[in-house]
Order: sequence, then structure tokens, then C-alpha cells
Amino acid sequence: MGHTAHQHPTATAGTAVAAMVERRFGSCPLSLVGNSFIKVCGRTCTSHDEFVMGSAGLSWEVVQRQQPVAVGRHPTRALQRPERMTSDACRYAVWPLSRTGFVVGSALRDNDRVNPARPPHPDTTASARLFARAQAVTPGGVNSPVRSFNSVGGTPRFIESARGAYLRDVDGNEYVDLVCSWGPMLLGHAHPEVLAAVSEAAARGTSYGTPTRPEVELAEEIVDRTPIDQVRLVSSGTEATMSAIRLARGFTGRELIVKFAGCYHGHVDSLLAEAGSGLATLRDAHSVPGTPGVPAASIAATLVLPYNDVDAVREVFAEHGDEIACLITEAAPGNMGVVPPQPGFNQFLSETCARHGALFISDEVMTGFRVTGSGQYARDGAREGWQPDLLTFGKVMGGGFPAAAFGGRRDVMALLSPAGPVYQAGTLSGNPVATTAGLTTLRLATDDVYAKIDKMSLVLQDAAASALEEAGVPHVISSNGNMFSVFFVEEGVMSVQNFEVASRQRTDRFKAFFHSMLDQGVYLPPSAFEAWFLSSAHDDGAMDRIVSALPAAARAAAETPAPADAPPDASTASTASPEGSST
Ligand SMILES: Cc1ncc(COP(=O)(O)O)c(C=O)c1O
Repeated sequence: MGHTAHQHPTATAGTAVAAMVERRFGSCPLSLVGNSFIKVCGRTCTSHDEFVMGSAGLSWEVVQRQQPVAVGRHPTRALQRPERMTSDACRYAVWPLSRTGFVVGSALRDNDRVNPARPPHPDTTASARLFARAQAVTPGGVNSPVRSFNSVGGTPRFIESARGAYLRDVDGNEYVDLVCSWGPMLLGHAHPEVLAAVSEAAARGTSYGTPTRPEVELAEEIVDRTPIDQVRLVSSGTEATMSAIRLARGFTGRELIVKFAGCYHGHVDSLLAEAGSGLATLRDAHSVPGTPGVPAASIAATLVLPYNDVDAVREVFAEHGDEIACLITEAAPGNMGVVPPQPGFNQFLSETCARHGALFISDEVMTGFRVTGSGQYARDGAREGWQPDLLTFGKVMGGGFPAAAFGGRRDVMALLSPAGPVYQAGTLSGNPVATTAGLTTLRLATDDVYAKIDKMSLVLQDAAASALEEAGVPHVISSNGNMFSVFFVEEGVMSVQNFEVASRQRTDRFKAFFHSMLDQGVYLPPSAFEAWFLSSAHDDGAMDRIVSALPAAARAAAETPAPADAPPDASTASTASPEGSST
């Protein structure tokens, strides 16, 4: 067996893997051969055979009483699906757990059925223990709701480290990451140049509460890439949208805000509103608080409309045009799943606002520097010749650190303190480490980066569509540039244009799909109402892993029994509910 170990020096053993195999195979003898192979006894096999799984998905070897009986090699890619081999006494199914780690398999009796839709569950003992500890000291055990896996069930993975396209959890399981920290990690995790810049910055001190060079440079970079004249840095997307709305109200002297159902702008009181049952034109009946704790007074001035609905916008402006301070929209929604604006919709919003003296706020926290080098603006405004009055940014521009921003027209920004009377401030705003991470990330985010991510996104969209088609699962792949979502729609639904349609999906199918992907080492957003995010670090190995996992996940979705008479579960999506929102 030693010969194969030498052929694959890239594999890493690591004590976490050894511990994981020890836990799984109990008292079976366990040994590491060199740094590349692990040997376990096939406990479920009656013949006392041993088997050895090679690392990196490149080779495997089955051994009976110390003699190899079968050897396989996969020179370029991880094993596509469970490989079955018949030896004298046993049949073995080997699943890839990791391209760079170990392939761990199960030995099955001759008559056992190999069910490729159900790969073995990764061991999650250490995550489960941490989750139990966390629940004792933190509400729900997490610091942002969607991380708790509430929508999909199961044990949330506690991640210990991440590099490139991969996450590694505290049990030693490795996953290809399709969450990318809910968008920010455009270049992948632990990018060496970002890390170097951050370490250097941190070594000079982590916060001064004074102006610094990197914040000027980051502001210049943002202004250069986007249609804004001036920008103010803050620490979260929530702060950015909250401040933009205050500024819009200060500038116009008006109070009403218009937003769309299904668009999430952070947990700002006035934006955690949902459409009420009243008519759009009946202001007081219109919105209801999206969560307990938001006073009716905070959302009394918020009008919630269906997304992509030109008539609703027209009607509300006809009725209230001279009272509306601003309309805020996700530049291209990603928080009800990806629901792109219909062609010309953003332009219509911008022109309608201008006609009525209201400000148009385009929330690019998610799309900014992600769908293009500037954001959604390059996909519509720059082509159509209009621009938003204010924009908000976050995620990518922080390079994985808490940094966000809002900016816009010079005459509007001039009202912001200390230049003007509209108050806004922040102890850690423009933090030197965060701004260095953001600046380095943006400077590395070249056209090639976006071209690569766009291309990979198309490959994944195609692969997901064919796997679901093959398995007979009704679906809509909805995309906007390189961001996309898979909606597990009811039969006959061809596209998703708003929150009402998005929320009518089969979330039970998504759950089965999600867990199958997770078991196969692919970490999808743990909610059916989210975008899948790629990074430029997603290499062929990562893409192979995702593409190989899709057919089994699609079959798992197909096998989900239809809920008896239960209405489709929209509990995980909401304009207001952070459960259906990022982070
Ligand atoms: C479009 C949009 N706006 C605002 C926010 C809030 O950002 P943060 O979570 O940094 O407060 C988010 C978060 O996902 C978002 O997607």
C-alpha cells in the first residue's frame, strides 16, 4: 500500500481526520500510512476484510487479509458517485468525502443495496456539542438566525477554518462553499494577498478613532467604480440602509418610504415591514410590523409593494407622490432567492422617483462589486443612462470584515454631518483593518475575476437544471449575472417575479436537496430563499465536486413525499424575517 501513498503526496492526513475515522469505526484498528492513507477495518463486513481508501479521490485500494484485491485510479477528478466493487466476500461502496482529504467508505454485505441518493452522513459530533453549548448562552445558538439551520433542520456546522473554495468544520469535514459568507468572499477564503495586507494593517494597530489613509483610498476606489460622488463608510449593511433613509428624509423633508415585499435591507425597524391586507393606497392599513418589537409607529410611514409591479408603483406615487421621501429596492433582489428586475424596471423606478421629487435608493449591499466590478448598476443604469440618487454597499467591499457604505449625489451627501445637519456616526466606521481588507479585495477584483465567476455560474446553473430535469423535479433556475437560485416550484411555474411566487415553493424538496449536497461535501445556503455564491477560488476540483453531487441531491428532492394537504411552507421567507435573509 505504501506505493500508492507516495504517488499522492498532496493528501493531508491530519489528526482531525484520524479522530473522525476512529469515532466512526469505533474499536477497529486504525493506522495512518505515511501522510496519505488511512486504514480501517470494514466492521460491517463479515469476512474480517480490511479496506483502505486513498486520499484525494485519486485512487483506492481494497485489501483482504493484507492482500490488495482491487485497485482503482481516478486520474483527474474525484469519484463521480459511489463506486462499487465486488471482491470474494464483500461489496464495498466508496464515497468521496473530499478531494484533498480522505475517501471514507462503508463495507456492505453482498446483498446490501447501495443507494446512491444517500451517501453516508458526515460525523457532526463536535458541531453538535458546540451547538448545545451555544444554545445555553446565545438565543438559538447563533448570532444570525439563518445560520441555525432552522429552515432545513439538522446540525449547523461550526466552521473551524476556510481556504479558497473550501470550508472545514470542527469535525474535520470539508465542504465546497457556495455561501461565501453570504456574498463577501468574492476571491475565496484566506486569499494570501488579503491576509498579508490585513496582517500588516493589524500590526500597525487595529482602531484609532481618527481618519486614516485606507479609508480615503477605499472611498476613492468605490467612487471610481460606481455612479456616486461621495461615500460614507459604516460597519454593516443595516447601518448603510438605515442611514441612507435618514438622509433621504432629511433631504426631502418627507417621511414616507416605499419598499418591496421580499426585499431585505437589514434589520432596520422601518424596513421590517410587511404588506398588510389593506389596499396599497390606504396608508394606515398598508404595512404591518414584520417582527415583534417593531412598533407600529416605525412602519406607519412604510409602504410595501409587490416587486416588479409597475402598476402598484404608479398607483402609490399617484396617491402619495409628494409625501414620499424615497423608494428603496434591492438593485436586483437576492433575499427572496434571486429575482431579477424585469428589463427597464429599475429605470422606471428611478424616473418615477425623480418625477415626484423622491430619492431612489438602490441597495447594492449584496450585488455591489459582486455581479460586476461595480454592481447591478453596470447591468442597467450605466446602459440605460440613469442613476440612483443614493446607493448602499456592504459584503464584498469589506473583504470579509465588517465594512459597508452609502453614497450618492453630492448635493444629497452634503447634508450629512459634519458637513450638514443630518446626524450619522460610528465608533468603528472606516476601521483601518476592515478598510484595508476591502480595498485589497476590490483592487484584486479585476475583469478576469468576474469573467471566471460568470462562467462557473453558468456551468452550475446548467448542471443543476439537468440534474433536476433528469430527476423530474419541477424547478426554476433564476439568475442575475453570476448570482442564481434554484426554486423548487410547483408544477407549471415557469418564472419567479416576486415574493408571492417565490414563497410558493416546495421547501421540503429543498431540505432534502440541501442535506444530500451537504452529505456529499457541498455547503449550500441553508434556506430555499437565498442566492448561491461562487468565488474566483472555485477551481476544477470544487466545481467537479458540486456537479457530481447534484444528481443524487436531485433524486433526494424527487423522492420527497408530497406534503399531504399542507400548504407550501413559506415560513422561511419573509420581507422582514431574518430567517429568510442573509447572514
Ligand atoms: C441587500 C441587502 N441589504 C442590506 C443587508 C444588511 O446587511 P448586514 O447584514 O451587513 O447588516 C443585506 C444583508 O444580507 C442585504 O442583502
